[in-house]
Amino acid sequence: MIEFNPSFASLIESASAAVAELSGQAARWQAAAPGRVNLIGEHTDYNQGWVLPLAIDRYIAMAAAPGVPGQIRVRSSVMSEERSLSLDQLYTPHSDPWMRYIQGVIAQYDQHGVRCPGLDVAVVSSVPPGGGLSSSAALELATAHLLEAVTGQTLTPAERIQASVHAERETAGVPCGIMDQTVVELAESGQALLLDCADQTTRPVPFDSHAPALLVVHSGVSHALAEGAYAQRRAECEQANALLGVNTLRDVSRDQLARLKDEGVLHQRVTHVVSENERVRDAVKAIEQGHWDRLGALMTGSHRSLRDDYEVSCAELDLLVALATAEPGVYGARMTGGGFGGCVIVLVETDQLEGVADRISGQYADRMGWAPGCYRVEAGAGAREICTAL
Ligand code: GLA
Repeated sequence: MIEFNPSFASLIESASAAVAELSGQAARWQAAAPGRVNLIGEHTDYNQGWVLPLAIDRYIAMAAAPGVPGQIRVRSSVMSEERSLSLDQLYTPHSDPWMRYIQGVIAQYDQHGVRCPGLDVAVVSSVPPGGGLSSSAALELATAHLLEAVTGQTLTPAERIQASVHAERETAGVPCGIMDQTVVELAESGQALLLDCADQTTRPVPFDSHAPALLVVHSGVSHALAEGAYAQRRAECEQANALLGVNTLRDVSRDQLARLKDEGVLHQRVTHVVSENERVRDAVKAIEQGHWDRLGALMTGSHRSLRDDYEVSCAELDLLVALATAEPGVYGARMTGGGFGGCVIVLVETDQLEGVADRISGQYADRMGWAPGCYRVEAGAGAREICTAL
């Protein structure tokens, strides 16, 4: 069964109602930011390669009212918790990991000379948590826009993205790339975003009602990038750079790759990065020409490469991809995000969506003992567009 998706307006209303209850005053400021899925281009962003993510029509929404000076009180319906943050403790990591994302962004803004006043804040979300759908980047960018609404001081989109990336790296301790925060901020409705991570230029790639549907299936296994495997992959890429005498894996040719053939794991890692960069550019052509079989094959190929060469998949994700690609009407499927759990995305004919979701769900539950979450997602607007319209 496809999970219900509350409307954007109802999320904003819930955030406003929650802050009114917390503070006893009407909400004065609101902000929101979407989650994302990556269509293709995984573990290429920190290798200065290409990625093709899209923002989804699921969001983190925040509302705020004036609060006690020097303090932020946050009520989160996501964690069913209420926490406080002292504004003179911006650089001492908060005891609650999810508060650190908010704290990290406030600290980054502070360094830009934007001082946060005392606030009461409510956070609500329709982004499935722990699914690798960038709920953390959404929380960071929503916080950035909220702060701008409150203070009337604005940073540029590039500075907002930078502030969020820094907050993520410092808060979560994950040396992440720039993909998540960039798409969460800059996405445009009905478009995927081709991002060249070397110079950070972007190009919208239409992915609208002419395209097949996108089904997201949550394995129910939480991804834990901070546990070291992500940083280890980055370190392996650095080692390969050194062996090849290049600064990044971006422009490594097939001939250069062949020079690593006796290097075991490093050869596998670079094989993934080189082939994934090729797949991203082929995927853009496939989308522009409406060749959905081709796009699906590239997605499934990407999954195989992540499973066998980059080794960031897991049994649950592999099972979901195998179940999905055996279904009629499915063009292709792959894990999305950092890996080790989280979600797969399935490119499926729109009129087959419900049936495919039900069958994958049933078979997965039979094998694993729990049902996966199924979500239909559409290419939505980024935080910049959303918050301008609020
Ligand atoms: C996580 C990181 C991104 C990117 C992906 C893998 O989502 O935050 O920067 O590296 O993993 O493609």
